[in-house]
Amino acid sequence: MRIGVLTSGGDAPGMNACVRTVVRTAIHFNLEVYGIYRGFHGLIKDEIEPLVSKSVSGIIQRGGTVLKSARSKGFMTDEGQQIAVDQLKKHEIDAVVVIGGDGSFRGARALEKHGVKVMCIPATIDNDIACTDFSIGFDTAVNTVMDAVNKIRDTASSHERIYVVEVMGHHSGYIALYSGLAGGADSILIPEVPFDLDQVCDKISSAYHRGKNHNIIIVAEGVGIKPGAAAENSSVAIGKYIEEKTGCETRITILGHIQRGGAPTVKDRLLASRLAYTAVNLLHQGKSGKMVGEVDKLVKAWDLEYALSQDQQLDMEYYHLANILASV
Ligand code: F6P
Repeated sequence: MRIGVLTSGGDAPGMNACVRTVVRTAIHFNLEVYGIYRGFHGLIKDEIEPLVSKSVSGIIQRGGTVLKSARSKGFMTDEGQQIAVDQLKKHEIDAVVVIGGDGSFRGARALEKHGVKVMCIPATIDNDIACTDFSIGFDTAVNTVMDAVNKIRDTASSHERIYVVEVMGHHSGYIALYSGLAGGADSILIPEVPFDLDQVCDKISSAYHRGKNHNIIIVAEGVGIKPGAAAENSSVAIGKYIEEKTGCETRITILGHIQRGGAPTVKDRLLASRLAYTAVNLLHQGKSGKMVGEVDKLVKAWDLEYALSQDQQLDMEYYHLANILASV
């Protein structure tokens, strides 16, 4: 059996640890393994090369992805998918391990419909994939955000300012919620929970009356990009509104792509290694059309169709706890 491996969509710290385990587990099971560069785009363009154990030496600690990543418009068409399948046939690749988020998994599903065996591994900083407690890259990203919030807090405290900090997550509030609770944020605004900016301002005022001279508000980017979201939900508009309403000097920091880089944490390396091992093991057993995930410390495989039909649920207990801690 010959397998291919690709990374697709937004990169995530831990993707390299994942690729490394895919390659070395394949070798362990006497499978040949090919790297497909630049995701589905590279598959169409025939950017396919054999990988050996040494190809993945010295990458476990590196952020990004040595296989490169892309978002492919071409692969969304029937024609693009047919070319991709033909490329796999040409290289006699029977199965593909797809490392990425839900868009990448939809690509994998399209390949499977053409008779290619697929196995999906969730890797996205957004943690918006169901059937796994965490996706690869999330832990590193929230640690990056927490580190940034620690630093912002220093200057917020010195200048007695309000800081509105926008974090990534696409339509998910996971990054905001976890980094907000861990970073001691005063308010956390996420797309999953409706909020009232006037209440946020009241909270700031009562904190000032209690003697708190600075305030950190974490805003998930999804609040502003949610379908139908009003322009006033952007972090910039939120910051302006708060400054006008409270009269307190306010700064806005958009953390941006810094959240996608950096050396993966221990958690992300372990998750990547365990999920990738199971994915290749399952292919070796002849299975296909699955997503591997870790739930309550156990690695499990789910039907891809089922995983794609589910929503990743936010842990509301975290939200309530953050609110309690910020309101007394
Ligand atoms: O999906 C990961 C992610 O970083 C999201 O959090 C963000 O909305 C998006 O990708 C940014 O994409 P791009 O790299 O295309 O700017």
